[in-house]
Amino acid sequence: MKIKLPVIRSATMLFLLAACAARAASAAPPVEIKPGEIWPDDRGRHIQAHGGGILKMGGTYYWFGEDRARENDRSLRYVSCYSSEDLGRWKFRNQVLKLADPENFGGTIVLERPKVFYNSGTKKFVMYMHIDGPAPGGRGGGYALARVGVAVCDTADGDYKYLKSFRPLDHESRDIGQFVDDDGTAYLIFEDRPFGFRIAKLSNDYLTVEKQMCLIPMHMEGGAVVHYQGLYYAIGSALTGWDANPNKYATAKSLEGPWSEFKDIAPSAAKTYGAQSTMMLKVVGTKTTTVIFMGDIWKPSTQWDSRYLWMPVEIGDGKLRLPEPKPWTLNIQTGEAVIEKP
Ligand code: GAL
Repeated sequence: MKIKLPVIRSATMLFLLAACAARAASAAPPVEIKPGEIWPDDRGRHIQAHGGGILKMGGTYYWFGEDRARENDRSLRYVSCYSSEDLGRWKFRNQVLKLADPENFGGTIVLERPKVFYNSGTKKFVMYMHIDGPAPGGRGGGYALARVGVAVCDTADGDYKYLKSFRPLDHESRDIGQFVDDDGTAYLIFEDRPFGFRIAKLSNDYLTVEKQMCLIPMHMEGGAVVHYQGLYYAIGSALTGWDANPNKYATAKSLEGPWSEFKDIAPSAAKTYGAQSTMMLKVVGTKTTTVIFMGDIWKPSTQWDSRYLWMPVEIGDGKLRLPEPKPWTLNIQTGEAVIEKP
C-alpha cells in the first residue's frame, strides 16, 4: 500500500492537472482583430502576408503571404510564414521563399498570392503562387506569362524548394485562390483572363492541376470559395488592379455548378470597404461556425504598409454579407465572433 498510494496520487494529480489545463484552454480569452489597422507580429512588426492564405495543422494556423517589407532586396520576391493558435496573435516563423528568376524568364518576376496545401500522402507542404513577368523579349509588361509556380517543403515553415511553373490545364492563370473541401480535396482557383475564373482539382500529390470542376464565365480575381451548410460560396473581385471594387459572390450546390448570379457582398458604393478578397476561412468551434472574409487593403506605392481586412461574414441560405469593418473578437475554441459596438 505504501508504495501504491503515491502512484495513485500522482495519477490523480496528473488527471486534475490535465483537467485544469483543458479548462484554462477553453476559457482562453477571445482575441481581438482590428480590420485595417497595423497588425503587429510577435516582434512588433506589421505582418507581411499580403494576398495570403491560411493552412491549419492540428491546433496551429499558418498564414502565408507576400512579404513586401520595405527593407527586402528589391531584386527578390519573398513569401513569409507566421503561426498562431488563435488567429489573432501571430508569430513570425520564416521567410519561406526568396525567389530571383528561377526559370530565367528575364528581369524581376512577379510572385503573388502564395497558398500552401499539406499533402498527407506525400507529407509535403506544397505552395502554389502566381508567377508572372514579361513575355520573352520583354513584351507585354509584367503580367504576360500568366503561370502558376509550385514549391515544396518538408515542414510548414521551412525553406521551400521552387520546382516549376506552368499554365494550369494550359490556361492563363493570374490571381490564384485555394480551397480545401470538408472531405480534404484540394482545389486551385485561378483567373483565366480570356474566359473567367476556374476551379480545378489538384493531382493526388498536389504537384499539378488535374481536373477542371467549373469555369465561371465572370472576369473576377482574388477568387475564394467556402463550403457552408451544404452550399459552396464563391467570391471574387473585379479586375481593377490595386483599386478596390465591389466584390461579389455566387452559390452552387456542387463545385461543378450551376452557379447562381453574382451579387455584391457589401453595399456597392463601399467597394468592399477598400479591400480585395484573398480567402474565406471557416472556423468550426464547439458552439458555432464562423466564416471569416480575409481581404487585402492594398497600398500600391507603400506596399509594405498594405493592411488586412478580416471580418466575420453573415452567411447562410444562399446569402453572404460582409458587415462594415469594426474591431471584433474571436473565440477560437467556441468559434464565436463578436463585433464590437462603436
Ligand atoms: C490585382 C491583383 C493583385 C495584383 C494587382 C496588380 O488585381 O489581385 O494580386 O496582381 O492586381 O495590379
